[in-house]
Amino acid sequence: MKFTAPVAKNETYEVTIQDLTYEGMGVAKIEDFPIFIENALVGEKVITLITKVKKNFAFGRVDKVLVESSDRVHGIEKAYTQTGITPLQHLKYPAQLKFKQHQVQVDFDKLKIPAEVNETIGMEDPFHYRNKAQIPVRNVNGLLSTGFYKKHSHEMIPLEDFKIQDERIDKAVLIVRDILRKFQLEAYDERNHTGVIRNIMVRVGKYSGEMMIVLVTRTKKLPSVEEITRQINEQIPGLTSLIQNINPEKTNVVLGKKNVLLSGVDRIHDQLMGLDFEISANSFYQVNPVQTEKLYQLAIDKAELTKDDVVIDAYSGIGTISLSVANSVKQVYGVEVVEDAVKDAETNAKINKIKNVKFVVNKAEEQMEKWQADGLKPDVVIVDPPRKGLAESLIKSVADMNPKRVVYVSCNPATLARDVKLFGDFGYHLNQPVQPVDQFPQTVHVESVSVLEKA
Ligand SMILES: C[S@@+](CC[C@H](N)C(=O)[O-])C[C@H]1O[C@@H](n2cnc3c(N)ncnc32)[C@H](O)[C@@H]1O
Repeated sequence: MKFTAPVAKNETYEVTIQDLTYEGMGVAKIEDFPIFIENALVGEKVITLITKVKKNFAFGRVDKVLVESSDRVHGIEKAYTQTGITPLQHLKYPAQLKFKQHQVQVDFDKLKIPAEVNETIGMEDPFHYRNKAQIPVRNVNGLLSTGFYKKHSHEMIPLEDFKIQDERIDKAVLIVRDILRKFQLEAYDERNHTGVIRNIMVRVGKYSGEMMIVLVTRTKKLPSVEEITRQINEQIPGLTSLIQNINPEKTNVVLGKKNVLLSGVDRIHDQLMGLDFEISANSFYQVNPVQTEKLYQLAIDKAELTKDDVVIDAYSGIGTISLSVANSVKQVYGVEVVEDAVKDAETNAKINKIKNVKFVVNKAEEQMEKWQADGLKPDVVIVDPPRKGLAESLIKSVADMNPKRVVYVSCNPATLARDVKLFGDFGYHLNQPVQPVDQFPQTVHVESVSVLEKA
């Protein structure tokens, strides 16, 4: 029998929004058939115009709001609802924090894992927090422009205020954009893989004020490179680092492998947890320094470290977590796959005169297996993986090493819940509520800390 959806394209329906998806879309149901509606909040009653009907769900847009949520923020310009940079900007901040707590709970509930989730720890000023930006450079109406992509498209909307970036970064991007315009540089054209300038990446040390600018080019040759370098330095006095990164590939990955130093030094400094850190262009560094300190402090407290402990820090980046715990324990081992990040981590240990850490370049899953085979017996394992979470083999190796405790710092609650379930198969369970920390206000991303122990 042919299934017919209870809604049809281009028709309108009156619905009440019942939930938000992990992407922040409103969910309404007609005869149990879900409709995903952009820019609609829980509790709102709207007339929706159906834009697409699939087998199991439909998409709609808001045609008219009949009853508005008291959590709605007014006055958001169209450019910000069209792009994906601040997908929760229409939701008041306390409600954003509740949404994130709920998201974590939903992911655990889906897998039937008993978990309590605390209220999300938020920020006092949830704007202009990012210390790093990677801004695409494209041709818009014949003019080299900086901005962000329209959702689900490659069309760029020019923007000058990115709302969530350190304002020093917004200013620098405009200065560089204007200089590139002046020298008539060609913006990258994704479709034809032509043009020169792909992205402008800017990183700023929140406390040090040091700034790194990376001009990502498709071509090895950067026309007018000397003049551009001179003018950028003239207009951004005290710029610490100006780098050309060459990325000739047809890819969405921003940075290529080759860096050319145009002026200054190839790294910047910043302080975190009372320590000094050097950060180079290709290394990962947490983007929200204010919340990172809260996150790390929580991870450290929850690790309940003692002076005799041996700790593994898996996915150690430039060593921020390893070095933050080193003074409280006997020995730390860090593993990280990006070679430059490990070099940074080693330099950072030296700068901070920390001797009881050892960093290894390897895939965490392979190194963990090796450490386990070598008989390493960590007391505490801290993991801080990328969004895809942990490899199953890593979980097995960790369990085989039998640590007292695993502290899991996660940037994706779906993979966190999946991994917690796998840890459960080896006897490790959550021993306290999961604690979300809002590292990415105005966006749908959720960071959290969990602790697993053997029953
Ligand atoms: C979320 S970051 C955490 C970094 C660090 N703990 C911090 O807080 O700054 C994840 C790190 O894992 C690294 N990475 C990604 N896949 C990896 C793998 N298979 N093995 C080891 N490191 C990996 C990335 O390069 C990145 O530095």
